[in-house]
Amino acid sequence: MDPRHASSFPEGFFVRGDETDDADFYAFDRFVTHIDDGAIGAIGELYAELQLAAPGSGPVLDICSSWISHFPTRPDRLVVTGMNANELAANEMADEWHVQDLNVDPALAHDDAAFAAVTCAVSVDYHPTARRLCRGCSFAATGRGVRVYVLESMLPDEGDPGLARER
Ligand SMILES: C[S@@+](CC[C@H](N)C(=O)[O-])C[C@H]1O[C@@H](n2cnc3c(N)ncnc32)[C@H](O)[C@@H]1O
Repeated sequence: MDPRHASSFPEGFFVRGDETDDADFYAFDRFVTHIDDGAIGAIGELYAELQLAAPGSGPVLDICSSWISHFPTRPDRLVVTGMNANELAANEMADEWHVQDLNVDPALAHDDAAFAAVTCAVSVDYHPTARRLCRGCSFAATGRGVRVYVLESMLPDEGDPGLARER
């Protein structure tokens, strides 16, 4: 194995508490916000600070998306992917949407270096293929492109019951 890809994660690190098929969980529409308004605002501020949606800043890919993408203003072009078609279709910032189960097909089905930025909000931590997914994001973004992974620090057993309900 290429030593750059050698894992220092212990065996089973990416095994989830709930290993049922994501397609089952997301078969039903859930037009919920997965984080509170303060967190949504903070993500918007981060995206603004990174100028992801500034005019002329280029196309953005938002993976693991739903009906909301947290950009304070509309990016030049926004492609969103996720699991639920109705939620993605309702994303008013998106120019294009695709359903893609990244556990089944982790390759980001876009031209290499097609995006100025790739975002993944409060989702990468659920993915057993997280490392491969991050590599895909690197390929999907241009050489100087930005990759933004927003992580939640709350554990379902300890945190907000709304989050616990979501997974
Ligand atoms: C906690 S929600 C976050 C949604 C959105 N990024 C946000 O910030 O509101 C997790 C999202 O990950 C997506 N997702 C879950 N499992 C997935 C999978 N196997 N492949 C692709 N996307 C997945 C779902 O579509 C869902 O919208």
